[in-house]
Amino acid sequence: MASMEGRRRGLPNAAVTAMVLAIAIVFFFSAAAPLASAASVEHTFVVSQTKMTRLCKETLVTVVNGQLPGPTIEVREGDSVTVHVVNRSPYNITIHWHGVKQVRNCWADGVPMVTQCPIMPNKNFTYWFNVVGQEGTLWWHSHVPGLRATLHGAFIIRPRHGAASYPFPKPHREIPVIIGDWWEKDPAEVARNMTKSIFSSYASASTVNGLVGDLFNCSGVAKEGYVLDVEPGKTYLLRIINAGLFSEFYLKIAGHKFTVVAADANYVRPFTTEVIAIAPGETVDALLIADAHPGRYYMVGLPNQAPLPDTQTPEYATRGMVQYMVSQGPCSGTEVGCRGPSADVPIVPKMPDIHDTVTSFYFHSNLTSLQHHAHLLVQQRVDQRMFVVLGLGTICKQGHKFCKRGDSDEDILVATMNNVSFLPPTSKSLLEAHYYHTGRHGMTQDLPKMPPKLYNFTDEALIPFGPKEMRLEPTYKATLVRRFQQGAVVEIVFQSTAMLQGDSNPMHLHGHDMVVLAQGLGSYDPVKDGARYNYVNPPVKNTVLVPNLGWIAIRFVANNPGVWFMHCHYEFHLSMGMAAVFIVEDGPTMDTSLPPPPVNFPTCGHDIDLMPKDFYLHTKKSET
Ligand code: C2O
Repeated sequence: MASMEGRRRGLPNAAVTAMVLAIAIVFFFSAAAPLASAASVEHTFVVSQTKMTRLCKETLVTVVNGQLPGPTIEVREGDSVTVHVVNRSPYNITIHWHGVKQVRNCWADGVPMVTQCPIMPNKNFTYWFNVVGQEGTLWWHSHVPGLRATLHGAFIIRPRHGAASYPFPKPHREIPVIIGDWWEKDPAEVARNMTKSIFSSYASASTVNGLVGDLFNCSGVAKEGYVLDVEPGKTYLLRIINAGLFSEFYLKIAGHKFTVVAADANYVRPFTTEVIAIAPGETVDALLIADAHPGRYYMVGLPNQAPLPDTQTPEYATRGMVQYMVSQGPCSGTEVGCRGPSADVPIVPKMPDIHDTVTSFYFHSNLTSLQHHAHLLVQQRVDQRMFVVLGLGTICKQGHKFCKRGDSDEDILVATMNNVSFLPPTSKSLLEAHYYHTGRHGMTQDLPKMPPKLYNFTDEALIPFGPKEMRLEPTYKATLVRRFQQGAVVEIVFQSTAMLQGDSNPMHLHGHDMVVLAQGLGSYDPVKDGARYNYVNPPVKNTVLVPNLGWIAIRFVANNPGVWFMHCHYEFHLSMGMAAVFIVEDGPTMDTSLPPPPVNFPTCGHDIDLMPKDFYLHTKKSET
């Protein structure tokens, strides 16, 4: 019938066959569609304080639903998410959905005083958002200074049509591996007092999935660690998240290799590696094949730190274990009940040196995107260019121009972008001010496009506080913003410096992914380095690691209307002011404009003070 019709219209037979096939395919997908149609995923997050015992000590921690890590949110691409946050903690709370693009939905981004007034104690707020065009591992965390140490969890986005459409073999199981720190000090307090004492505030342990592991044995008995049971020959997808406040980590599993398949919820061209390097804010998805001799293998997380002359702080490795389930006793070993954990002596991996920062640089350089279309977005034109220099320094208290710097009561320690340190507003969120066109002027200042001076940024003589460093001191604190027209293509080169420290800087942008064009060590050279940009398969990230004493060049398209935080994901850098806000203007149409706020959007009531305390106190030294 179809072919007769076809002949009458003069269509060749092949075309008819193709048409029939096309119709069949459309029919197949529409029939299959109900299975894969968007769902609505709902959670209730009760934030409260509870005591947990680690390191032989009960510590009061602020957590969601009594869990550490908090609940995992699992969705399929296209789903909508509703999270009812009930605040039973004594803190003002927000929850940020790290890496979720929140297209035209900046209201749900969860940054205190940037996108919303926080949820006060005994108040509730419901976050609602869609997850569109992203697949992989993200996470959620509180964005209130310090609190993300224990208020965090995984956010997993699977393909709309299920695990069969992964661009890699379907794994037997998927396992979140969340690296974090354990704080005995109150991390909220630590974050607030950072401006005098960053080098004396440190975590007491590191954790894998909330457990310190057997390198810690305060009572003479090794502490419990995270154990992953594996079956010989099976493949596991590890969804690795660095939720730590302070450090990049190396992760290794003795006797095994990883195949990295995604980072920051973007697929990468798979590559195998023995070590994963992951900075705070980043995620890495890696396949682990249980193909070693069935035994027990330590999984070690080791923080790294810049070598001398940087100030050295205590850093702790943590370890869990990969344990093969092997046949026990007389049965064949194929029946499930017959299997038990291997009793072999666990094997220890050889870790990089704690001062090795180059392995991290190479790991990050190995990331390239799987799809080759990312470059189409970014290579045609650049509308705005910025060179953003990241560093530490001191400024005089209370806006004074001159004061005694260094070991003095007259100054505070700050972290900066182009020598300016971010000051959060206190009475109303920037997003509301932007949306209602109030407080446009006076309240904010432009993030400079360039540093005030060009110098040898990575000269290690700048690390110890002294005359050399003092001539380049930062200038002031301000609520820094940069405005972009809807659709603007923005290029930023971030430069890490040796100002008081030679740290790397994991820079995170909300509401947008960034395309990484190049990275290098030393000071950025626009001619030489600009010539080696990768326009072919640049990786796409929401958190880009600016290497220790190095730089990274990124581009992004400012196409998501709203007010987006851009900051270093080291908590101490962030609370000391290494942050700015990118305002993306509305476009001419509905779907390039920001809709009104959701119902019951929190209000501030009174002034909210997220600033380190001693910015205002000029007499008392902080005692942390
Ligand atoms: Cu994961 Cu602004 O943060």
